[in-house]
Amino acid sequence: MRTLFNGIKGLKVFKNEPLSAYTSLRIGGRARYLIKVYDEQALWEAMEIIKRRHLNYLVLGKGTNILFPDRGFDGVVIKLHGTFQRIEQKYNIFSCGGGVLIKDFVKQAQNSGYGGVEFLVGIPGTIGGAVKGNAGAFGKAISDVLTSVTIIGPDLRIRKIKRNEINFDYRKSDISDEEIIINAEFKLKKIKKQIIENKINEYLKIRREKQPRGFSAGSFFKNPRPLSAGRLIDECGLKGLRVGDAMVSKKHANFIINLGRARARDVLRLVKIIQNKVKALKGIELEPEVRIVK
Ligand code: EPU
Repeated sequence: MRTLFNGIKGLKVFKNEPLSAYTSLRIGGRARYLIKVYDEQALWEAMEIIKRRHLNYLVLGKGTNILFPDRGFDGVVIKLHGTFQRIEQKYNIFSCGGGVLIKDFVKQAQNSGYGGVEFLVGIPGTIGGAVKGNAGAFGKAISDVLTSVTIIGPDLRIRKIKRNEINFDYRKSDISDEEIIINAEFKLKKIKKQIIENKINEYLKIRREKQPRGFSAGSFFKNPRPLSAGRLIDECGLKGLRVGDAMVSKKHANFIINLGRARARDVLRLVKIIQNKVKALKGIELEPEVRIVK
């Protein structure tokens, strides 16, 4: 098995790699394989092997919205590097590889005087992850500025799909876990640089004031709109509640913080306690926003 991906150019293989190092929660066991893929050809060849051998796989972005189990992942974790981290810009059209960091996209848009993505500032993570989960903030979502997505599916076909052919909703899309977003295209607007800068500073300020620091995966639950998960959990008196080193943030109740040595099972127990309490006191079922890998 050691030689599984050997011979593919543009690919690095890591065996039994600790996933905690790749996630913002700093939690997770080891991946049987973690591969860093640098171009489309290498990704295609790797997928071909994965499919032929019927291996589990998942694509991991910056690991900022995911919880891996303590036993790890018995399959192949794919990370997009190289050409997948490139941004190509033609006037107001931005073409981003799936592995591009959101912050790099926001920065390039700002520097070239194109706006419409300021709300993304401060969201950690990659374009691929953001599009799949329809990331957003301040009432806006990434699907608002998206024009098309290129994916490689489990059938190994590479397809470009128009925005209108994808269903997006609050923090979700119908892009499946088996599909890998290799590229996404956005249409932005020319806006005065000063206006962009002001908006960015305003959003960053709000984030700094409301959101906690520390190891977390951002908002843990989706807002049961029009209500707010943070407020509901807060009203149930759960701020500061701990299971092991997993704690409901004292600053924002929808953040679960790893104080250092939290395990996935601690987080999952805390999640259950929160869900049960909010259900009992408020009659509302909270649904995780973070992807929980089984
Ligand atoms: N609130 C409380 N107690 C708390 C936390 C919040 O009463 O402990 C109240 C706030 O006062 C406010 C309301 O709940 O009235 C909503 O809170 P906040 O404005 O912080 O926004 P949010 O709905 O919790 C959403 C996104 C964030 C995004 C902010 C941008 C979701 C699940 N979360 O948070 O996204 O940054 O808006 O304003 O949609 C993420 O997805 O990971 C994320 C951080």
